[in-house]
Parts: sequence; structure tokens; C-alpha cells
Amino acid sequence: MKIIDFHAHILPRLDHGSRSSQVSLAQLQLMSQAGVDTVCATSHFYPQEILVDDFLEARAASLARLLEISQNKPRPKIILGAEVLICEGLDRMEGLEKLCLEGTDILLLEMPFSAGAWSDRLYRTVAEISNRGIRPVFAHVDRYPYKLVEALFDMGFQAQLNAVCLSRLLKPKHLMRWIEEGKIIALGSDLHGDNAKAYKPFTKVCGSHGDQAQRIMENTDKLISSAVRH
Ligand SMILES: [Fe+2]
Repeated sequence: MKIIDFHAHILPRLDHGSRSSQVSLAQLQLMSQAGVDTVCATSHFYPQEILVDDFLEARAASLARLLEISQNKPRPKIILGAEVLICEGLDRMEGLEKLCLEGTDILLLEMPFSAGAWSDRLYRTVAEISNRGIRPVFAHVDRYPYKLVEALFDMGFQAQLNAVCLSRLLKPKHLMRWIEEGKIIALGSDLHGDNAKAYKPFTKVCGSHGDQAQRIMENTDKLISSAVRH
């Protein structure tokens, strides 16, 4: 099975996921030990805080540092992306498509944590993003009330789960159903920091959910077939 970690915060000093190149290197080492073939570097992008081009410039510099320091060390291939926090009207933001996983039309979108913020206008924003030719994949949908997420599935979208939700003994039934129904296109660690314990759930799920994980990863692999890998 080709293991793809679709959601991780591994770029040095780009967000709170890694405070230094050394932390990023340790994160890559954890991934390499877990047999991860590819990781999507999905640092937080907050539209109210930074312009797209400034983010891209900082991201390129961060990646360059990381590639330099990780030379000749075993590591997964890295695909550049972002975890983009949605807000009403995001569909009108200039340069949004540049935040897609590099070489694809896939955008990792983070929905708001407060259920009250999932307004009709927000759903319309999602639809308009899609109309713009961008394919949203929703981050860690295990974290939200399931009915709100199912409204996104009803619109034809797919989503990513954080592996930790499948590593627990008691797994919410709707998550297993979503996997069976093909709504889940990717798994991620959402790794912040380099604590080895924090990476265990991702490794565990790839092993203990062998068939299911394999099916998801095969679909992820197809989804990102055109992506640029570093
Ligand atoms: Fe994240």
C-alpha cells in the first residue's frame, strides 16, 4: 500500500506546526519510519491574515530550507498545499486556485468549528468555489456535527479524516458509513510538532484498517496523480 498523509503541518515556521527546520526534519523522520510515501504539506492559510502571494513566497522559502536540511536523508515526497479556512465570500478571493495542491485543482478546505457559522451563505461559497473550477476536499470532517458534513456530501463533495478518529476503540458509526460510501477520499495525520506519539494513530490506522485504508489511499493516489512532488 502506498501511504499518503494528506494533511500535515511540516513546513518550518510557516505555521505553529513546526517552529524550526529541526522539528520539520524530525517530523519527516517519523513519516519515513512509518513508511509514508507522500505527504501533503498543508500549512494553515487564514484569508484574513495574509495575502495569497505572500503566503506562497513564505512557503517556497520554507520548503527550500527543509529540502536543504533533509538532503540525503530518507523522507517522503512532499506536495505543497494549504489548509484554507473558509469564510463567506472566499470564492471571490484573488489567487485562491494557487492554494490548491501544487499541480492539481484540489483545495483542502477547513470549515468553521462553530456549528452556527455553517450558514446558507457559507454553503453557497463552497458551491461557488467549485463553480470556479476548484475541487474542494474538506479537512478533518470527523470533527464536525455529521449532519452539517452530510449536506456537503449531498452537494457531491468528498472529505478527509484525521486518522486519530479511527484509532479509538469506539468509532462513530457514521464515519465507517462515510468510508463505505466513498465519501472519504483521504486520511491525514494533521501532525503538529514532532512528538512520536502524535504520529502513532496515523501509523496504526494504516495497519489496523488495512483494507479500508488501502482503498482510501488508492483513491487518494489517483486524486493527486498530477501533483508536483518535491
Ligand atoms: Fe490541520
